[in-house]
Amino acid sequence: MPNHFLTLFDFKGEELSALVKRAVELKKEAGNGVRHKQLIGKIIGMIFEKPSTRTRVSFEAAMYGLGGQVIYLSGKDTQLARNEPLKDMARVMARYVDGIVVRTFGQEIIEELAAHSSIPVINGLTNSHHPCQILSDIQTVIEFKGPIEKLKIAWLGDGNNMANSWIQAASRIGFELILACPKGFEPDQSILNKAQAEAAKPITLINDPVKAVLDADVINTDVWTSMGQEDEGDRSDTTFQPYQVNNELLKKAGPETIVLHCLPAHRGEEITDEVLEGPQCVAFDQAENKLHIHKAILERFVSV
Ligand code: CP
Ligand code: NVA
Repeated sequence: MPNHFLTLFDFKGEELSALVKRAVELKKEAGNGVRHKQLIGKIIGMIFEKPSTRTRVSFEAAMYGLGGQVIYLSGKDTQLARNEPLKDMARVMARYVDGIVVRTFGQEIIEELAAHSSIPVINGLTNSHHPCQILSDIQTVIEFKGPIEKLKIAWLGDGNNMANSWIQAASRIGFELILACPKGFEPDQSILNKAQAEAAKPITLINDPVKAVLDADVINTDVWTSMGQEDEGDRSDTTFQPYQVNNELLKKAGPETIVLHCLPAHRGEEITDEVLEGPQCVAFDQAENKLHIHKAILERFVSV
């Protein structure tokens, strides 16, 4: 297993499943009042160049929950904002802390940090990947619907960082994934090609949202405008409207289908308030599982 957690393609399916399994155990133990101490004496740095509520708080809570400590740095408060080279930042951080969680723009930024870092670098979201999030989503799917290998997962809307990481997870773990994205907003073609070539189950990209949700056990969506894309024009227009997860679309999937959203949600755009607040949506359990999966990731990468 590599020492960094940058994309899901870097891991075997069994390794990803083991992290999810461990998160389930840690959640159970926390529920039974077990006090964890695996990371006593360890410190992580968190460098976030984009806003975050869930990822930041759940990583901090996870680290404290395992006995460790955290130093949070917003990107603008570090010398990165004044163009200190990434390779210098990486080598300096390694002198102070035992691991770094990074939320940034281009994937190449985190790859360069990792290349020069002797301590683990964990991807807390880039423009093209959100690997930690997808593991907590998989944990949630398994909790509500059983083994993911037997399920059909649908992705609706923008082919963004979340979609790319779902594709990688489907390929590595081996479950059916169908993505419905508007023309011009497809996921990364090279990720899709590699995933399809290596996958045990179908990974399909179409444009028709209704076709995607028929027989789907899980419907997944995310904002139409990801962080950093605000200046790329209005995406809440008619292009994305057919991909909105609303009651009409959900009815086509069926009453047993669950709805995932990594949050934050834009009610009235990619998902209606009715669906987000409705009985089939598990977005808040999904948000909780970020805490447990982050404990599993920190335990695996930072305690060695
Ligand atoms: N889902 C997620 O990553 O949320 P935050 O942007 O609040 O961290
Ligand atoms: N695709 C979204 C995910 C937010 C957690 C974004 O990058 O803004």
